[in-house]
Amino acid sequence: MTRRGRLRSACLAGVALLTVAAITGCSAGPEGLRPISPEGRSVRNLFVLLLVLSALAICGVAAVLAYVLIRYRGRGERGEPGGGGEHPKVQIAWTVAPLLLFAALTVLLVRTIDDVDHPVAASGLRVEVIGHQWWWEFRYPDLDVVTANELYVSVGRPMRLDLTGGDVIHSFWVPQFGWKMDAIPGRTTHLSVTVDQAGTYLGACTEFCGAEHAGMLIRVVAEPADQFDAWVQAQQQPAATPQSDVAQSGQNLFLSSTCVNCHSIRGTAANGTVAPDLTHFGSRTTLGAGVVANTPDHLRTWIADAGSIKPAVLMPSYDFTPDQLDALVAYLESLK
Ligand code: CUA
Repeated sequence: MTRRGRLRSACLAGVALLTVAAITGCSAGPEGLRPISPEGRSVRNLFVLLLVLSALAICGVAAVLAYVLIRYRGRGERGEPGGGGEHPKVQIAWTVAPLLLFAALTVLLVRTIDDVDHPVAASGLRVEVIGHQWWWEFRYPDLDVVTANELYVSVGRPMRLDLTGGDVIHSFWVPQFGWKMDAIPGRTTHLSVTVDQAGTYLGACTEFCGAEHAGMLIRVVAEPADQFDAWVQAQQQPAATPQSDVAQSGQNLFLSSTCVNCHSIRGTAANGTVAPDLTHFGSRTTLGAGVVANTPDHLRTWIADAGSIKPAVLMPSYDFTPDQLDALVAYLESLK
């Protein structure tokens, strides 16, 4: 193989590798490359296009550089430095070609922004998202549902998230949605997305918001319409009444403790608003904004000393006796 042939083969192999990496990334790579919404796919497609074009550009420049180095090796310096002025056609070509390319990419970029940031019809699902130190509040104003850290969505139904910050600036990011949005105190920002694949997807806060910034995770549960409607119906109910003596004494203890200053349990006298609504706490899969699984053992530790699980958490520790802890855990876990 000639030297030029070897160079060309090396370049082709490089482009092939990058293309394969980009394409396989769509099925097994980072979550942002596996979108679950039309918005996410628009962003992913633009990203892959830019990646491939950049790879081609790098290979092209490297090939020309290598060709010149090899072709003119060993020759002495000749002519004036910067003597490209002798080749106006070449200069025009390498100025105009990138200009046209960038103009085309700008049009694609604006179209992608348009695809992603669109108004949502009145029939869409509206969710108010409030970022707190360090958990997420989700309110469904048209459905009279309030929950925390776990966002339920109906597959195929356009959704608009209205975001704000309860204390400092947070940022709501579920990579597979395709884009993210800041949650800023005193302002409402919007993020529209139509999740079209059922499943559970994870997200996080991506704006540094204090010591537990890494401990405010998001869990998105996307369900077919009938399952979502069943979930809504269950969430609209007031809290379950205790079905056992131990759960009943847990409720009495909860309602006579300072728990009620911060937490709400609909259907009881607890109506605090600074911490997660616990009306259906037992139906959640995680605790402490996704930091640990919602199990009786974790909940027991959480109530006694939440800081041992999430060091900077704002919930104080409590000096309950083991029996009191058992009762509280039995009561809270019964709130399905
Ligand atoms: Cu909230 Cu970072």
